[in-house]
Amino acid sequence: MCGIVGYTGAAPAIPILLDGLERLEYRGYDSAGVAVVDPRTGLQIEKCKGRLQFLRDRLEALPPLEGTVGLGHTRWATHGEPNDVNSHPHVSQNGRVAIVHNGIIENYAEIKDFLLQQGVRFRSDTDSEVVAQLLEYYFNDCSDVMDAVYAVLARLEGAYALGILCADMPDRLIAARKDAPLLLGYGEGENFIASDATAIISHTRQVAYMEDGEVAVLTRDGIQVFDEYRRPIEKQLHHIEWDVSAAEKGGYAHFMFKEIMEQPEALRQTISPRLRDGQVVFDELRLDDGFLRRMKRIYLVACGSSYHVGMLGKYNLERFLRLPVEVCLASEFRYSDPLVDEDTLVIVISQSGETLDTMAALREARSRGGYILSIVNVVGSSIARESDDVLYTWAGPEIAVATTKAYSTQLALLTMLGLYMGQRLGRTSPEEYAAITAELALLPEKMEQVIASTDVYQYLASLYFNRECVFFIGRNLDYALGLEGSLKLKEISYIHSESYAAGELKHGTISLIEDGTLVVSLATYGPLLDKAISNIVEVKARGAEVVALTTDSNRERLEKIATHILTVPDTHPVLQPNLGVVPLQLFAYYIALHRGCDIDKPKNLAKSVTVE
Ligand code: M6R
Repeated sequence: MCGIVGYTGAAPAIPILLDGLERLEYRGYDSAGVAVVDPRTGLQIEKCKGRLQFLRDRLEALPPLEGTVGLGHTRWATHGEPNDVNSHPHVSQNGRVAIVHNGIIENYAEIKDFLLQQGVRFRSDTDSEVVAQLLEYYFNDCSDVMDAVYAVLARLEGAYALGILCADMPDRLIAARKDAPLLLGYGEGENFIASDATAIISHTRQVAYMEDGEVAVLTRDGIQVFDEYRRPIEKQLHHIEWDVSAAEKGGYAHFMFKEIMEQPEALRQTISPRLRDGQVVFDELRLDDGFLRRMKRIYLVACGSSYHVGMLGKYNLERFLRLPVEVCLASEFRYSDPLVDEDTLVIVISQSGETLDTMAALREARSRGGYILSIVNVVGSSIARESDDVLYTWAGPEIAVATTKAYSTQLALLTMLGLYMGQRLGRTSPEEYAAITAELALLPEKMEQVIASTDVYQYLASLYFNRECVFFIGRNLDYALGLEGSLKLKEISYIHSESYAAGELKHGTISLIEDGTLVVSLATYGPLLDKAISNIVEVKARGAEVVALTTDSNRERLEKIATHILTVPDTHPVLQPNLGVVPLQLFAYYIALHRGCDIDKPKNLAKSVTVE
């Protein structure tokens, strides 16, 4: 989704803004732009459709844009097609203000009508331009820009992270936020705004997260923040722990591949501090035994891959807790009149912590009295801040749009949470608890074995990269795992793919299987191996080519019937998907590579989905 970076300091703003935008590219975008305030000539804007490189080329061909205060933006189109005019920044009719915006102004049509009646001329088809035009309209009537800003914010409905520049105030930039991420960066003689810390980490590690309703005024000497009633407030500063190299490719061809390879370490960081003497320990958790004992139901709420983690979590949590667990897509949950009350635990899963659908579901659940526990990767993100409890996955920054290490760490953490609650309630048998925790400790090492060689995935990709359709089948945990394998493949390689519960094939889908159809059969879940084998036999009998994924100990049985075989080390059955997902990530990666796809930034997708 859209990315914002803003700078005020002593250095020329343009190189800093372009560097920041480059680091925000991973969020997904279709056009980019910058604005600076030149003290002599006022606002200078340059923007265009397409990759950031086009903007760089354009800027290089022009006389340099002077200014030490500026805004940069990468746009992911919602209202109005991706083109030069609809790109941000948007400047007001008489050039007094320029804005960048992330989010959607829901009542933009009504504001636009109002402004058109006042004679304001619009240039773009975007919802965002109304903010620039309305701001100038109010600014023309009052001498104080902050009066104008608050008047505008009072009229806006929807979600926004806003960066604002005024031609009359060449030393400052203004920021405002509601339901879209924005942070403040505190430097030495320079200050920043950004959609996320990756944009500014090479300049400062001191950040504060803006809250809904807040407005910030930044100069090179400091940042003042005001609440929605315009009262000054003190922000709590956070120190970003991870290093800038964590958000760089470091010699790898793609972030996705780097992040696949980082999974063992990400798991280690997530698991080991919470596993002591064979016990799951959550020092950070506030959830008390009183709530656990009266808890009657659990919802797992998330989107996309995080939802797939929830699918696996349902099986495991019901097993450990013997309680009803429902897994819901966040975008459906919020409109489903969910059965949440004071005795409901709502586990919200999100890598970014900023997904709007998930955020809205969280608020819906909270308004009904549910206890919100989130599993989040980005420290200080909106979902983390609005939850009663947070467990962080320590995966480090994930840049590729297709999630890998965040998925793996979410899955491990959710399993640990299930074990923790199961033990406190006395519903998980001590033997099972001990067996799983022992295997949890070994998971990073076993994953290292999985990624040690990638030859087989490259080979399979060379055979199958030109398929038009791929089926994934599996039962129980393997079914949920297949959903993620299928999503990985389709999102980065654009091959159509579906994942089916293998037992459902005979109820319809098997009619699609014909000579040469590629079926990826997941057969890692030991307790249902015989069933998985029967399903492979069924599809093979109808001509399918089967790539089977199983465990080392079952290789021999599968070798006899599958066309090709992939294996992962054996672990406890409930943890097997943690290893099984890696071959599916690598399979998708190499297929996309063969097809020449833009792996880290697949078309139409964004890393952090901050619109509904
Ligand atoms: O940041 P979140 O985990 O809330 O994001 C939810 C989905 O958009 C995300 O998991 C998406 O499906 C993946 N990037 C796909 O690889």
